[in-house]
Amino acid sequence: MRQADPSWDALLEVALDAATSAARHIVDARPRGPLAIAATKSSATDIVTVMDQQAERLVVERITAARPEDGFLGEEGAQVDGTSGVTWVIDPIDGTVNYLYEIPAYAVSVAARVGEEVVAGAVVNPATGETWSAVRGRGARLDGHPVRVNTPPELAMALVATGFGYGSVRRARQAQVLLTVLPRVRDVRRAGAASLDLCALACGRVDAFYEQGLKAWDLAAGGLVAEEAGAVVGGLRGRPAGEAMVVAAPSGLFEELSAMLAELDADVTDEGEIDPA
Ligand code: IPD
Repeated sequence: MRQADPSWDALLEVALDAATSAARHIVDARPRGPLAIAATKSSATDIVTVMDQQAERLVVERITAARPEDGFLGEEGAQVDGTSGVTWVIDPIDGTVNYLYEIPAYAVSVAARVGEEVVAGAVVNPATGETWSAVRGRGARLDGHPVRVNTPPELAMALVATGFGYGSVRRARQAQVLLTVLPRVRDVRRAGAASLDLCALACGRVDAFYEQGLKAWDLAAGGLVAEEAGAVVGGLRGRPAGEAMVVAAPSGLFEELSAMLAELDADVTDEGEIDPA
């Protein structure tokens, strides 16, 4: 396990503070009745609620008050080049569609990146009151208690979480891949929030996770939690995890699942190319 830098613990405290306040805000300030949709993004179903924007603003404000020199990369547009070398990667509401429908599987995800490496992260699900956290080299926790991935079952016995993008071409390809995956595994779960899928893997609620098309903010905190709980987090064909593909599973199962996904070209872009990302 990589040696943790003591300053990363302080970054986790900041992440926890910001994620917890935003999580409280999206529950307490949620208007009664239908939510205001502020915008749509990649498709008509890829929505931004007013609450996503408020939550991102709140996270940025809290972190800036504590660490004015840091940079930001947020799903709802925060983009600041800091001067400290630390960049905060924020998904203010991961699982926005669940939030819209009041399905209790959405989360605030806040991670600190030093250079290209995520070193601390927190994922807070306000609907269940659960908080996952991790510092690189120090393990992963759920509500302060250490968590570990399951002992890997063989692929045929694995419960595999996955997710789908918002664009229809991408979704059709993902469904095609699923046609082969589904009969070869125990079962599949689609919870609707990638950060929570990765945290579920970290505490043994699923055995593996894969998804094409995740952005940095979907992956940053949950990916570190999964890794620190003992998962391998990577892409296909020996590549790092990224937009082309994220596979996360304990060693052994990771190789089996990624070999199957590579055979299915599950990282092919909507234009039919192997995604270089
Ligand atoms: C989405 C969720 C979903 C995943 C999508 C993401 P958002 O994030 O994590 O589970 O399948 O790929 O875009 O839009 O709710 O923040």
